[in-house]
Amino acid sequence: MKTYKLGVVGDPINHSLSPKIHNLFAKRANIKIEYEPYHVLTSNLDSFIRDFFDDGGSGLNVTLPHKIDCLNSVDDFSPIVKKIGAANTLTRLSDTNQIFADSTDGMGLIKGLMEANINEIKSDILILGAGGAAQSIIHDLQTRFPRVIAIANRTKEKVKPVVSRFPPLDYDNLHPNTQVVDIETYLNERDSQGFRTLINATSAKEELDFKWCESLPIKGVTNFYDLSYSKLGETTPFVNWAKNQDIGAKGKIVRDGFGMLIHQAALSFEIWTGIKPDTKITKAELFDE
Ligand code: ATR
Repeated sequence: MKTYKLGVVGDPINHSLSPKIHNLFAKRANIKIEYEPYHVLTSNLDSFIRDFFDDGGSGLNVTLPHKIDCLNSVDDFSPIVKKIGAANTLTRLSDTNQIFADSTDGMGLIKGLMEANINEIKSDILILGAGGAAQSIIHDLQTRFPRVIAIANRTKEKVKPVVSRFPPLDYDNLHPNTQVVDIETYLNERDSQGFRTLINATSAKEELDFKWCESLPIKGVTNFYDLSYSKLGETTPFVNWAKNQDIGAKGKIVRDGFGMLIHQAALSFEIWTGIKPDTKITKAELFDE
């Protein structure tokens, strides 16, 4: 049986759950993998990636801070990577031997939202944050055709350049095409409908860091989703804050990004092996007591 040589590269890397997740996928799919974490500094990234694939690597996940720089070491990339300028999944293509870059973060989020029963993403979505994490999800959310995706960020000046990267998609007239706007533009719009879904893409570390969001039009938000995840038995600052929001709406859903983590990994696994793995994984299976 073939053994897939896989891994994840980042700096730092010791916190990564990817080795455990992929080993669980492989065990359940009954295939053999060797999935290693690699601690690599930016200065060594290019030679590391080339050596990894020259040594028989089939696939490599890329995490912070290398999601942008890794593109210097690949031969080709997917349309999504071209759009967002970052990748998390590198693959050695067996037919051409080229190194190909893809991003599974956005689709991982969509699957995480579905799994959390956050289905009504056709209505207006508010994203907090304008960094790499926010940019990695906007395109895939656009393909779900919410009316508007609005972005709010602590540093307002950073939002406009992000908005300009995501013009309406080039789709046929049958689909109402999603506008990506900054929150000020949204608030000035006459027919803005308020948000149902709020996604945290900031790296804020304290519950108090979300206080400023309380002045945003979030009274109708029923779905709170955090791209960050917490350990077993802990909660993220955003989840704590969201739970304390008395929004008066029924059916409030508050989730951290654990589901997204599993699904973006599953999509990488499928790209490398062709197998859709069993994604029913709990925190208890990944975090040591
Ligand atoms: P990432 O790639 O994880 O998105 P990043 O590009 O550094 O990292 O972006 C971090 C995001 O979290 C930014 O939107 C940042 O806001 P600023 O642009 O104002 O820095 C946001 N962020 C980080 N700490 C924050 C805090 N304490 N309160 C609010 N937003 C915060």
